[in-house]
Amino acid sequence: MGTQRILWIIYSVVNLFISLSSAAQQQPLHTIIDAAPKRVAVIGAGAGGSFAAYELRKLADAANIPVNVTIFERASYIGGRSTTVNAFDDPAYPTELGASIFVEVNQNLMNASRTLGLNVRGAAYERPGETDDSIGIWDGSQFVFTLKDSSSWWNIARLFWRYGLAPLYTQNLMKRVVGKFLKLYEEPLFPFRSLSEVAEAVGLLNVTASPGDAFLQANSISELFSREIIQASTRVNYGQNLPLIHGLESMVCMATDGAVSIHGGNWKIFEGVIEASKAELRLNTAVTEIVKTDKGTVQITSKPTSDLDSAQQDESEFDEVIIAGPLQYSGISISPPLEHIPDDIPYAKLHVTLFASPHRISPEFFGLHGKDAQAPETILTTLPEGLNLGTNPRGVGPAEFWSISTLRMVTRTVIKDGQPHLEDHFVYKIFSPERPTAQFVADLFGIEFSHGGPGMVTVAPDNATIGDLPESEISWFHEKIWNPYPLLYPRVTFEDTLLAPGIWYTSGIESFISTMETSALMGRNVAALMVQSWEREKDEKNGPLKLRTEL
Ligand SMILES: Cc1cc2nc3c(=O)[nH]c(=O)nc-3n(C[C@H](O)[C@H](O)[C@H](O)COP(=O)(O)OP(=O)(O)OC[C@H]3O[C@@H](n4cnc5c(N)ncnc54)[C@H](O)[C@@H]3O)c2cc1C
Ligand SMILES: *[C@@H]1O[C@H](CO)[C@@H](O)[C@H](O)[C@H]1NC(C)=O
Ligand SMILES: *[C@@H]1O[C@H](CO)[C@@H](O)[C@H](O)[C@H]1NC(C)=O
Ligand SMILES: *[C@@H]1O[C@H](CO)[C@@H](O)[C@H](O)[C@H]1NC(C)=O
Ligand SMILES: *[C@@H]1O[C@H](CO)[C@@H](O)[C@H](O)[C@H]1NC(C)=O
Repeated sequence: MGTQRILWIIYSVVNLFISLSSAAQQQPLHTIIDAAPKRVAVIGAGAGGSFAAYELRKLADAANIPVNVTIFERASYIGGRSTTVNAFDDPAYPTELGASIFVEVNQNLMNASRTLGLNVRGAAYERPGETDDSIGIWDGSQFVFTLKDSSSWWNIARLFWRYGLAPLYTQNLMKRVVGKFLKLYEEPLFPFRSLSEVAEAVGLLNVTASPGDAFLQANSISELFSREIIQASTRVNYGQNLPLIHGLESMVCMATDGAVSIHGGNWKIFEGVIEASKAELRLNTAVTEIVKTDKGTVQITSKPTSDLDSAQQDESEFDEVIIAGPLQYSGISISPPLEHIPDDIPYAKLHVTLFASPHRISPEFFGLHGKDAQAPETILTTLPEGLNLGTNPRGVGPAEFWSISTLRMVTRTVIKDGQPHLEDHFVYKIFSPERPTAQFVADLFGIEFSHGGPGMVTVAPDNATIGDLPESEISWFHEKIWNPYPLLYPRVTFEDTLLAPGIWYTSGIESFISTMETSALMGRNVAALMVQSWEREKDEKNGPLKLRTEL
């Protein structure tokens, strides 16, 4: 009995040993290891970060790789530079404070909007459309061109009358350039490690290498059309003149076909794709540190945005991290230090002033007189003939603002003489390199700067701003300073997508083309690269194993 029992124990132990050692070589155990989800941290819930999470979910599910994505966002909202504020603080009137428009060729945004069932509307949908001339191009002393919004033959006739065939040539040039760019969306170029290499491959490096004015000249676009129309567009879109901004971004400014926005705010796209990604979203949470560990993972330190000095911090381990916003503004320290640190890129500084008023833009401000005079609803600007500010980033010139647009009309109930009245108010947006003064706004609307009843002051003090104007004249306002996009100087290299093993970066694309769409594209791109590397890893593991099972 005793011997038998001992034999049985030996037998079981040996058996256990055998089963353990063979299990170690069998697939099931590997499957268990593989089943641990890939942990990805995404820093930033803007276009880039949200589309990275969305694509990770799609591709990892398709490849049967479990993935756990955590999005860190230091702001209290989704969308980054694409966000709305409510006019009159009323949720019925969300108004874009950042990126307002995307266009037909923006496949990532268009497709996601469709998939998510969002309400996509023509960009001018809410504009009052009351004036005959919807767009005027102001050079600081005159309107060099005015345009009716509809693409009526009259518009076209006026365009050809003044500019000859330049509009057609520009259209064709733009289509060729956009066609090259769209190759980045497809195999064999997508997904790409190096933006510089694929830009070269599609023939766009000589477009980014030359300033807009030189590029247009080389392509026989007339100086008049370039300065009056194309430059008005580079100024409203990027606050930059043609001698500064590179050829590619100048062409992007002319790709306006099918301009749309999302009802309620473009950020709804990013909210929708984050939800579809099933990522865990941590708002109000700033990442302060990324540490590469000896295991090859990354340790992410984050803190509540409201209390960055606090000792209260969270440390979590991830397999990979995506930095989805400009590194230079992220406040993140990386250790060990990167071998190559992305260059600090000069960014534009833009004042966005949203406000409402019962007044219309004063025609007199623009030197238009007579009782039928009307100012255009949208006023773009350019430099007057003969004034070349070259590559100076402070290039606004005599107009002093980049653009003023009438966004919509809202009927308000106001109390006058103790009685409620219905009054039409207009919501406006000014883009300018400096904060608009109260005097500028007052002049623009023909408002008297009256302060404090009798003996009132009619000239605003130099330091007065829009909030100092009476509420009866300016019924609501919101001011914001952005670093909206880089100063798009000509260049031929762009930041790589991988800063170090496991540390990915999307914002290199901003110096190439700076839009919501390109950030979304780059987010998808790094996600696709990451999933590809996981698949290679899986194949390497499974390859020799299969051989063993066959044996
Ligand atoms: C006024 C204005 C007008 C514009 N107009 C247009 C337009 O009409 N059409 C268009 O396509 N584009 C436009 N743009 C540009 C467009 O907004 C940007 O190109 C795009 O939104 C950038 O997206 P992103 O995800 O790359 O970066 P962001 O939107 O900047 O997102 C980065 C996110 O990362 C977060 N973050 C940064 N650091 C940390 C950290 N340490 N921890 C946690 N979170 C962090 C930020 O809070 C931010 O939410 C405009 C921009 C502005 C400001
Ligand atoms: C995903 O990762 C986060 C952050 O580490 C963690 O809190 C969460 O529990 C994980 N979820 C799953 C399903 O593993
Ligand atoms: C968008 O959808 C169209 C039509 O289904 C498809 O051909 C295209 O590849 C899609 N593009 C992207 C970037 O998803
Ligand atoms: C840029 O290079 C492409 C080919 O790579 C060529 O077709 C095109 O003409 C060049 N454009 C300019 C402006 O030099
Ligand atoms: C504006 O300037 C006046 C005097 O020049 C000063 O008294 C006042 O405090 C200033 N106001 C602001 C808001 O800076």
